[in-house]
Amino acid sequence: MENQLDILLVSENESITNQLLNSLDREQSLITVIQSDDVSREVNRQRRDIVIFVQTENDYAVEQIQYVKSVNQKTLVIYLALDADINNLRNVSRAGAEEFFVLPEEMSLFISRFPTIQKNYSIMLTTEKEQAVTFGRGRGQIYSFYSGKGGTGKSLIASTFAQTLKLESAAEVILIDLDMQYGGVETMLSIEANRSIVDLKPVIEELNENHIRNVSQTEKNSKLEVLISPRDAEVADIVDEDFITRLIRTCRRSFDYCILDLPSHMDSIVAAAMEESDKIFYVLLPETTSLKVLKYYEELCDRLGIHLSDSLEIIVNHLAKENELKVKDLKDLLKYPIVATVRKDYKGLQSFINKGEAIRKRQKEKMIPFAKDVRKFTRFVLS
Ligand SMILES: Nc1ncnc2c1ncn2[C@@H]1O[C@H](COP(=O)(O)OP(=O)(O)OP(=O)(O)O)[C@@H](O)[C@H]1O
Ligand SMILES: [Mg+2]
Repeated sequence: MENQLDILLVSENESITNQLLNSLDREQSLITVIQSDDVSREVNRQRRDIVIFVQTENDYAVEQIQYVKSVNQKTLVIYLALDADINNLRNVSRAGAEEFFVLPEEMSLFISRFPTIQKNYSIMLTTEKEQAVTFGRGRGQIYSFYSGKGGTGKSLIASTFAQTLKLESAAEVILIDLDMQYGGVETMLSIEANRSIVDLKPVIEELNENHIRNVSQTEKNSKLEVLISPRDAEVADIVDEDFITRLIRTCRRSFDYCILDLPSHMDSIVAAAMEESDKIFYVLLPETTSLKVLKYYEELCDRLGIHLSDSLEIIVNHLAKENELKVKDLKDLLKYPIVATVRKDYKGLQSFINKGEAIRKRQKEKMIPFAKDVRKFTRFVLS
């Protein structure tokens, strides 16, 4: 069904989970069961309509409900209590839960009320949609550009993509260079920066959009916001997983698109960035060694518990007649969709790279083949 509601059931109690899954009306909804520890990740991953919390032993539902509401005020929260402690119920309501039921006494009441709750929520959504504006704040997309192999064109494609997005739409876009050691984006966009991501460290606990805009640089042609890498391994050390997660989540709330340029190695920062990403665009060269590296990356993600099946999409770069593998061969070999192909364009790129000049400047301009291919990809993403 097209207008299915996306529901999270946060429960560690197997018998209640089963009872709910068996009795709740699921015609209108898709219910995913998750553990309490996964709440923040799951509500950040995609827009959730309803979150149902089943009380757990060491319950931190209050904080979690507040968090769910801070990500999306519209998410409806239902709390299923296992004891009737009035203080707890009051706190849960104050945190933002719209409904609560005390189990087991009110289980059947909840089950019978559930279809109406769903219906009312759907009506609210439709009304909202009718009044919707093009870009609603609050649920920006996080797109990472990555490849396990160095020098495949990640930074160049990520920065050109970010610029094109900004030039071709009304969206607020931020590009973040997460190659903490070497950077690269600042040269490509000829940005002279005296501030870098690490300048956000003192305010990371209470990070907001203003802090980010104070540190980011505005690319002068496209007005794209750019957060530059410190390009210093020692300085970069003060940035950890928690920092990156907070940074990305704040960007998600303040920008429509947050583009991450990743380095080709894997560490806890890169893994955290991937965890937060809605999409990982893997930049692949059409040759067998690149395929081997991709395979190795998949295995690594598997071991790290990063699930790629929904998020990984392929960009084939350096497309040329003499390629060892054709796009058709790659389609047969890969289990991920190929969403873009970018031609090899040494000639077109040369002067931009030599001068350290941005590849896109205006919406209407003469474009090199590389820029045209990236624009095609950008339009595909926007469509
Ligand atoms: N389609 C293309 N045609 C020709 N040259 C390209 C193309 N794409 C990228 N390059 C060149 O490849 C080089 C590496 O590009 P880039 O720095 O974007 O790669 P990267 O994957 O970010 O590298 P690193 O792993 O070092 O971060 C650049 O000099 C760039 O000009
Ligand atoms: Mg790079």
